[in-house]
Amino acid sequence: MAINNVKGTHDIIADEARSFDYVENVSGQIASMFAFQPVRPPVLEHSELFIRGVGEGSDVVRKEMYTFDDKGGRSLTLRPEFTAGIIRLIIQNKLLATNELPLKFYYCGPVFRYERPQLGRYRQFNQFGVESVGHNSPYADVEVIALAYTILQSLGLENVTIKINTLGDETSRNNYRAALKDYFKDKIANMCGDCQTRYEVNPLRILDCKVPEDQEIVKHAPKMSQYISLESQKRFIKVLDALREMEIPYEVDDTLVRGLDYYSETVYEFHYVSAKGNDYGAVGGGGHYDKLVHELGGPDLPGTGFSFGVERLVSVLSDDGLLNNKQELDAYVMPIGEEAQEHALNVADELRLLGYKVDICFDNVKLANMFKRAEKKNAKLALIIGEDEIKNNKVIIKDMETKEQTSVDFDALGDTCDELFNKKECCGGKRECCEGDECECKKGE
Ligand code: HAM
Repeated sequence: MAINNVKGTHDIIADEARSFDYVENVSGQIASMFAFQPVRPPVLEHSELFIRGVGEGSDVVRKEMYTFDDKGGRSLTLRPEFTAGIIRLIIQNKLLATNELPLKFYYCGPVFRYERPQLGRYRQFNQFGVESVGHNSPYADVEVIALAYTILQSLGLENVTIKINTLGDETSRNNYRAALKDYFKDKIANMCGDCQTRYEVNPLRILDCKVPEDQEIVKHAPKMSQYISLESQKRFIKVLDALREMEIPYEVDDTLVRGLDYYSETVYEFHYVSAKGNDYGAVGGGGHYDKLVHELGGPDLPGTGFSFGVERLVSVLSDDGLLNNKQELDAYVMPIGEEAQEHALNVADELRLLGYKVDICFDNVKLANMFKRAEKKNAKLALIIGEDEIKNNKVIIKDMETKEQTSVDFDALGDTCDELFNKKECCGGKRECCEGDECECKKGE
């Protein structure tokens, strides 16, 4: 019997994988423009990191972690998110003491959560995110939101809704928690099991309950905004003013609490409903954290960051026709017969070394069939090698669009392709002409 993939995981193949590469590359390039540097923490961490970092009261730690004992009896967990791991990496490598703050890192890779799979919800999915650690300025939050917004704009997602809220400082949250406990005291017995646990461990999370009957009760709960300290209110206003100044649209949503326990002050989520009307859930979310670095054994310094769900970004981009993920080739080499196949390798090699994308047909199929394959791969040129071409050291070049065909010497293949592609940019010193001052490639610059 065939073996299938694990429930909640998915295979990302060819065109879709190209879409993932595209989203991750655009995001990484823009993060670099904002002076964030790449980091790659391990997928496996000690379970304790997430229990302490993400919080025992969060759904993620209570029921969604892939945790197991390794052969040495250590409790390990496949990361359910990046932030705690990034902070661990920063503390362990003593980066806070030796660098200008904030430390700015970006990351990308798979995360694992044991959730009920549904539209936009997987058990293994990919996140791209950033953390800016060690500076308490509200403008560090704004820089991170501006970065996320720039990425979404660059991907073509124009109508993103940024929901934003403040959870205030520790005193604000303690006061609000007490008010919520008081409000839910005589109602909690009739609410769902999850809410009953949240009532004990983190009553703020009750506001996030998706059970319709519970939502009715939640509607009339005290509002967080009434419990935010003056200091935190001032901080939040600075964030909102700066966003307005930068023309970054937002909606204040004072029911937004986020699912992970480490947040304080500013929190936000990025929502986008695709043109097809599919709502995959938030495409990203993040916020400020005051205590996480200290909680994980570091100094008393805050951080701020966000993560995108790459699957969700790819889904909305695909729904809205914003992905160009088809394979494209510069040339498809079509050898006729066994002997020509060896020559095909040389032809492909010559062009690949010049930076062209080239594939070879290794099947002895009819020429018409080879052309069909070239079309399917969106090849711009078909390069035909038959008996005559081998004998005369030539290649036939057929332009797949104009259907024009020429026969060129093998030695002139690179130059002919450069002419055909009107290649102006410098080849980076791979051609002979680059050796002298009179570089042909550079004339086009
Ligand atoms: P999060 O909101 O838990 O935040 O996840 C970030 C994004 O990951 C979500 O907005 C969503 O797009 C995606 N996501 C979450 N769960 C799933 C799932 N089961 N399947 C597919 N996509 C999913 C964090 O993880 C925080 N670490 C973000 C952060 C960084 N906060 C501060 N710094």
